[in-house]
Amino acid sequence: MSRIKIFDTTLRDGEQSPGVNLNALEKLEIAKQLERFGIDRMEAGFPASSKGDFLAVKQIAETIKNTSVTGLARAIKSDIDTAWDALKGAEEPCLHIFLATSPIHMTYKLKKTPDEVMETAVNMVAYARERFPKVEWSAEDASRSDWAFLAQTIEKVIDAGASVINLPDTVGYATPAEYGEMFRYMKEHVANIDQVDLSCHCHNDLGLAVANSLAAVENGATQIEGTINGIGERAGNVALEEVAVALRIRSDFYPHTTSLNLVETKRTSDLVAKLTGMHVPRNKAVVGQNAFAHESGIHQDGVLKNKETYEIITPEMVGAKSDTLFMGKHSGRHAFKEKIKEMGYELTEEKLGEAFSSFKLLTDTKKEITDVDLFAILTDVQTES
Ligand code: KIV
Ligand code: ZN
Repeated sequence: MSRIKIFDTTLRDGEQSPGVNLNALEKLEIAKQLERFGIDRMEAGFPASSKGDFLAVKQIAETIKNTSVTGLARAIKSDIDTAWDALKGAEEPCLHIFLATSPIHMTYKLKKTPDEVMETAVNMVAYARERFPKVEWSAEDASRSDWAFLAQTIEKVIDAGASVINLPDTVGYATPAEYGEMFRYMKEHVANIDQVDLSCHCHNDLGLAVANSLAAVENGATQIEGTINGIGERAGNVALEEVAVALRIRSDFYPHTTSLNLVETKRTSDLVAKLTGMHVPRNKAVVGQNAFAHESGIHQDGVLKNKETYEIITPEMVGAKSDTLFMGKHSGRHAFKEKIKEMGYELTEEKLGEAFSSFKLLTDTKKEITDVDLFAILTDVQTES
């Protein structure tokens, strides 16, 4: 089993979600929870982007000791200098430099030739290494870049001192087979690739971020970047809790471990949702309110007999609560009986039948039957002569 490093960018790429703006205290609170969650590396922000972000990154760098803290910089000296001022108090100051390598970004956004991009990447990584012991370099829009050019650039950037190479699917365009193939190509064509961590960074525009991250891991990635709850630009980044749980549940297929304390998953998700205001959909994998809820009679009957009939993840594993007995219109008599037993009631078969009929009537007018509704039904049937 080899270990996959988990790089969290909730506080940088995640904060780039439209409408999200965390203050320094909120960022610090999330950073502390990410440390408890066991994240290997956290990207605390983009120090050159604003005074507020600079101060937040500095405070996090000086406080967090068990997770390595990094900050983002464009491939320009002033960004790197500002990032150093923010990060120099960290246990092990790390810098993340990005520069686009795809034809569309180089031509229209950077207005640079491929040779100029390669030279800038090499020079800025070397410049950063004069201070930072660890430098990650990201080839922005890697998945739409020319692979031969990318391989050549990566080799030179590693020689200049980068210790992590990240290949983002910046616009969420890649398919799993294609993204995986790009990692395999770099493993085969970059002579010094084994000296560094090779990282994936997937956006979710086509809903493929988890599949793409897993494909990267299958093809040699040693680090996964993402955010809690999958927040981020547009459709967001890969949801770290989803990939981490997929790796754990399907360890028969993915022989890798991570450093995460999965039992902190739900608490981390709740905190990020609360502080960012980005609510988690009920049906979201792993952390959604319905992830461990069963409503239909057939499913409820199954899980009452053996949970594994319909549950592949235990709620305990991720620190969530089980909601086996969600009471709605599809619930059956077996679940109803268990539910009222859980509430402390024992009814005769006749009273149970009456209560179940009243419950079914009520489900035609209400989506979710609460304990208060059940209590009213039970009181009624018990007081009837
Ligand atoms: O998606 C992306 O390309 C990024 C880079 C800055 C790493 O977030
Ligand atoms: Zn990104």
